[in-house]
Amino acid sequence: MADKSEQQESHALDGRLVTFTHPRSPVAEAYRSLRTNIQFSSLDKPLEAFLITSTGSQEGKSTTAANLAITFAQSGSQVILVDADLRRPSQHRLFGLPNAVGLTTMMLENQEDLPLQYTAIPGLRLLSSGPLPPNPADVLGFRRMDEAIARLKKEADLIIFDTPPVIAVTDAAVLSAKVDGVLVVLSAGKTKRDQARRAYDLLTKVNANIIGAVLNNAKLDRGTYSYYAEG
Ligand SMILES: Nc1ncnc2c1ncn2[C@@H]1O[C@H](COP(=O)(O)OP(=O)(O)O)[C@@H](O)[C@H]1O
Ligand SMILES: [Mg+2]
Repeated sequence: MADKSEQQESHALDGRLVTFTHPRSPVAEAYRSLRTNIQFSSLDKPLEAFLITSTGSQEGKSTTAANLAITFAQSGSQVILVDADLRRPSQHRLFGLPNAVGLTTMMLENQEDLPLQYTAIPGLRLLSSGPLPPNPADVLGFRRMDEAIARLKKEADLIIFDTPPVIAVTDAAVLSAKVDGVLVVLSAGKTKRDQARRAYDLLTKVNANIIGAVLNNAKLDRGTYSYYAEG
């Protein structure tokens, strides 16, 4: 117990990182089955980099991205979580880390060392957003972004991107063309059917490989769960 509280203090981890704080909870178990489903969905095609998006804000994209990244790291994969929400970045806060450098600085400067930060979770490193640019969608669409993704893939087994909502801005659609798959978070009782349809249309228009949808905030027998549905 003393160890755990020390760890949490030094990293100021957010309570939403339930897969780390409560790995035996039903919610953590739900993230593990999500991980297994993603692994099975990619047996044919390697899934080295995927992004997580949703139709609107506050639907659980960042929470899902963080917990899924932790869950993959817990299974022994080397994982890099990238905060590609260059409008409202939140991953550095979730992991209690600074955001002075990150994805945007990596794009601007030809650095030898990537500005990756270690998290409290072994095997999981964070590339936070870095300072916010005036033109987020352009930045994500630049050819330099392809180079950045290629460099990240060399560094780890799996790259997971957190992004802004796909309906409001083009960022996620732009980035979806550069990664191997897209996972869409739907919020139970919040995401409307026509919004989900619109997100699906926007993503298929850019030939995104939709690997599945996650239902967040679903009330099952007890508490709040997230689970996976075949996309
Ligand atoms: N499964 C969940 N159970 C309870 N609260 C959640 C859950 N998922 C998200 N939230 C809460 O909803 C808010 C938005 O979540 P977040 O992951 O930041 O969404 P987004 O990245 O889509 O804007 C946060 O305050 C978060 O704590
Ligand atoms: Mg977010």
